[in-house]
Amino acid sequence: MSTKKLVPVILAAGKGTRMVSEMPKVLHPLADKPMLTYALDLAEQITDEPPVVVLGFEAEKVQKVLDDRVRVVFQSQQLGTGHALNQASEILMGQSELILVWAADMPLLSVELLEKIVDCQRNNNGPMSIVTAQSDNHRGFGKIVRSDEQKVQAIVEQIDATEDQLSITEINVGVYCFASDWLWKQLNVLKPSASGEYYLTDLVECSYNQSKTIGVITVTDNNEIIGINNRVHLAEAENSIRSQTNNYWMEKGVTLQDPENTYISPDVKLGKDTIVLPNTHLTGNTKVGDRCVIGPNTTISDTIIGDDCKVKYSVIEMSVLENEVDVGPFGHLRAGSHLSRGVHIGNFGEVKNSHLGRDVKMGHFSYIGDATVGERTNIGAGSITCNFGMDKQKHRTVIGDDVFIGSDTMLVAPLKIGSRAKTGAGSVVTKDVPKDSLAVGVPARVIVNSIKKGKDGEQ
Ligand code: UD1
Ligand code: CA
Repeated sequence: MSTKKLVPVILAAGKGTRMVSEMPKVLHPLADKPMLTYALDLAEQITDEPPVVVLGFEAEKVQKVLDDRVRVVFQSQQLGTGHALNQASEILMGQSELILVWAADMPLLSVELLEKIVDCQRNNNGPMSIVTAQSDNHRGFGKIVRSDEQKVQAIVEQIDATEDQLSITEINVGVYCFASDWLWKQLNVLKPSASGEYYLTDLVECSYNQSKTIGVITVTDNNEIIGINNRVHLAEAENSIRSQTNNYWMEKGVTLQDPENTYISPDVKLGKDTIVLPNTHLTGNTKVGDRCVIGPNTTISDTIIGDDCKVKYSVIEMSVLENEVDVGPFGHLRAGSHLSRGVHIGNFGEVKNSHLGRDVKMGHFSYIGDATVGERTNIGAGSITCNFGMDKQKHRTVIGDDVFIGSDTMLVAPLKIGSRAKTGAGSVVTKDVPKDSLAVGVPARVIVNSIKKGKDGEQ
């Protein structure tokens, strides 16, 4: 096989009119990532050569999702796919023997398919290879016209097709591999179609007319050729990715009670014997350990969860839960929450930017923000850290081990509560409470060492 140099070119200049959107089509999110990133990931897997991306509509916005390796060329007017590819000729002419081209609106293409067409063209004496599929669903695909000898003769776009051609079930997937010398020459002399667009697909007819061989690869799994021209197609692609991801996790030993209503983003990792209940969204860099029960109706993003945890009807963002943590129903853990082993957050508990030590219990209606809470401390119902001061600054609360925060305590930060201290129900604590002491009232009186000495009637 030849070792000719190969450069991928990704077409992404179109507006995507059929999306009816202010946003360029290739930036629409698909399973959490902009559509264009799928093409870039494929390019990276197929060759070390950096890809060339053709941008046009809202190019500055699209450029933000590209890394420095990617080379960009601009198509200032969207005059068709042939015209788009021709914009890359200036930087690629004489630079590469093979050009692999596909559209950024085909995010589900597999690397195996791209490898196949490249191999096909490496072994082809003719100037180009194409990928076809069988489908009676038009979806805007070009139709493959074959000659009497069954040779590929032309590609006819749906809008230009005759009645007879519309019944053709062999379609153009839109992935091509070209011998570059021939390609750049032909693109320069390409004629516009009836609609005034320069069709890349017309190169098939050029090649046929020159009696050159066109390589053909046929796709068997039509899921990978879901092209996205409108939002119905976008939802189809989303569904297809979702079922692929969910099947993968079920094969790895995760139970999904209702896979069609379970949303697991591609970068999420799940442990064995974990159960994910319906209407649960796991996104970003989330990692869940073994034997957890997550959901129903739960959203978790960018969070690390240990083994044997339970989270139900809750929202968790950018947090860490060690083993045996139990959250919900209706808990909200915001960025920077770290819950140590055995922590329990019950109904309507909210935690932000705080470290909760082992076995902290916070059963009902509490808010802990910008705080450190020691081991085995109990946060009574309705208690909160008043972390946002009248000076409009955030202040910290530090609570020791084995502390008992009575129901409805207001902890006015900055504040320190020593180990084994207690606060009375409804107290408003504005001053530090030493260890083994009791704070009661509004504002709270502190009775130093009262607990150790047994003055509050205990110990
Ligand atoms: C194209 C093919 C069709 C094929 C289908 C497969 C042509 C003429 N038709 O149709 O045969 O079955 O893809 O998906 O090629 N683009 C530009 N600049 C332009 C026009 C388009 O960069 O001036 C880009 C778009 O951003 C898009 C890609 O080219 O990523 C394809 O364009 P699109 O308009 O979606 O072509 P289809 O109608 O799908
Ligand atoms: Ca398309």
